[in-house]
Amino acid sequence: RHSGPLRGRHVVVTAGGTREPIDPVRYLGNRSSGQMGYALAARARDLGATVTLISGPTALRPPRAVTFVAVETALEMRAAVQAACTHADILIMNAAVADFRPAQVAPEKIKKHGEEGLTLQLVQNPDVVGELAARTDLFKVGFAAETHDMLVNARSKLQRKGLHLIVANDAIASIGQPDIALIVLDGEQVVELPRQSKTEAAAALLDVIVARFEQWLAT
Ligand code: C5P
Repeated sequence: RHSGPLRGRHVVVTAGGTREPIDPVRYLGNRSSGQMGYALAARARDLGATVTLISGPTALRPPRAVTFVAVETALEMRAAVQAACTHADILIMNAAVADFRPAQVAPEKIKKHGEEGLTLQLVQNPDVVGELAARTDLFKVGFAAETHDMLVNARSKLQRKGLHLIVANDAIASIGQPDIALIVLDGEQVVELPRQSKTEAAAALLDVIVARFEQWLAT
């Protein structure tokens, strides 16, 4: 990486969804495809950054020339993010991290017992990006995939998680889909990026991230 606005910068991108085991053969997951995160990682690389892509399981091939870290659970994602961010400039937290995981992982495959249903007890996962709130030296970008009250929810996450930027999108319209419309928010400004392919959206979003990162460095 010899040129580009992110030359000399280390960018950590998380992508895909986590899987939270129930027993040796089952998990709780979500519909994240990883497309957006992989496109962001490739674009950050093309802008000159050294990139670490931390990904839950996806059907995608990792982009070339990025450090790729495969994880499965939210707890593995947290450990990988913490390790990668010790020397990072920007964290783009695009992964769909499970908010909850089964309280216990059954050691053997859970069997049916007659006609009875099954109740799973869930516990909360740590907030991976929220835990990095004290890292004021790291420029943090989060995502808010919402099904309702998109901007209100996104603004509250921006605050609560201590982010520099949050990228809101309509979860129903975009998760697992090839196209995405984005709204980028900080405390003051709102930038709307029209619906386009995730590759195009990643390029447009990185332009906004780079501009805000440079402003933030200058303050
Ligand atoms: O609270 P919610 O899951 O909607 O927040 C989404 C943002 O927070 C995303 O950037 C996501 O990657 C991040 N997140 C996280 N740790 C969690 C849940 C979400 O870092 N346990």
